[in-house]
Amino acid sequence: MTEVFANVQAAAPDAILGVTAKYLADPRPEKVNLGVGLYLDETGKPKVLDVVREEQEALIEAGLPNTYLPIRGLPAYRDLTQKMVFGEQSEVVQSGRACTIQALGGTGAIKLAADFMRNVCGATVGASSDPTWGNHDGIMRLAGMQVQRYRYYDAAHFCVDFSGMLEDVAKLPAGAMPIFHSCCHNPTGYDLTLEQWTQLLELCRSHGLVPLLDMAYQGFRDGLDADAAAIRLFAESDLDFLVATSYSKSFGLYSERVGALTVVTGSKKQADAVTTRIEALARANYSNPPSFGSRIVAGVLSDAAKRARWEVELAAMRDRIRAMRHALVQETEKIGAKRDFSFVTRQGGMFSFTGFTPEQMDRLATEFGIYAVRNGRICICGLNTSNVAYVARAFAAVL
Ligand code: LMR
Repeated sequence: MTEVFANVQAAAPDAILGVTAKYLADPRPEKVNLGVGLYLDETGKPKVLDVVREEQEALIEAGLPNTYLPIRGLPAYRDLTQKMVFGEQSEVVQSGRACTIQALGGTGAIKLAADFMRNVCGATVGASSDPTWGNHDGIMRLAGMQVQRYRYYDAAHFCVDFSGMLEDVAKLPAGAMPIFHSCCHNPTGYDLTLEQWTQLLELCRSHGLVPLLDMAYQGFRDGLDADAAAIRLFAESDLDFLVATSYSKSFGLYSERVGALTVVTGSKKQADAVTTRIEALARANYSNPPSFGSRIVAGVLSDAAKRARWEVELAAMRDRIRAMRHALVQETEKIGAKRDFSFVTRQGGMFSFTGFTPEQMDRLATEFGIYAVRNGRICICGLNTSNVAYVARAFAAVL
């Protein structure tokens, strides 16, 4: 052997996906997985939506050939995604000044966005919230961007540090790509108000920033339209911006990698040119996208009856998450926990930022078999009526 690889050091396990491995290795029956952002139902099982399962079965039955999709993805899926993001009647959709390219999940959309901004638009700086989803910075760095953080979480008051955020975003150089979580902020669960979004939009315009709005949880906070409010506000301005969409959560299609990147430009001509440049990046990265997941999404969204059923199932997931937030707070109150956990009900989406330290998170894992991300993020979807009191007791015990 030439020993080229002899000095390769093993990487640390992924901060989020690595949690699952630890949970699985724990033999205790009372263990609880509050790690990865995965919707579990009331029985603790990953949810397979009925309408999705039926669409899957119909597709298998149809036996379509597994030929290549266009590099930009399935046309119907791209059109339906644009309407989902901006609304059917949106000027952005009608004018064609936005282009949507199918991507490998939300992660793949962010990767395409960063590659495009760095390699085609010359952006050298990206920015992410402090804290942010564990993959944002790595994707931007891999694309060759220098990453800056902007303040987001006010740990002392359990809320958003909005003035700190504005101050830091204002320091970014023109042309930089800050990533904003358009709803269900990951990991904190705290979102901006529409008034705050309006101020942020003005700041982006006046400073020449090109934001990427990461929309991984549309429908998980208040509803499909309500959760898209920030994006639709941006779409009404003359700002150029990007949107990363994921259907992993809303369709429960985690492993199918179903996402999309949308770039909002000034004209259809620009959008057409941008599409070809992103296609070139996709071609060099992975050639063209897989078809099964996007066909499922397109099949459901294009049929009024199926779409209505999907919206009911999505609302049920959203309602269960909200109920679990309230249950966790009630249980901690009932046992007189030293901390007021009512902030959990002011957060939205899959996650709650508990304010626990990494050491407290370690105690939850070792003493109670409760696994979550060491930064204090828990996935509310791992709670159910059978384990929420146990989790509340454990939370009180590690305070
Ligand atoms: C999460 O934040 O848990 C999810 O988005 C899954 C992932 O890829 O990290």
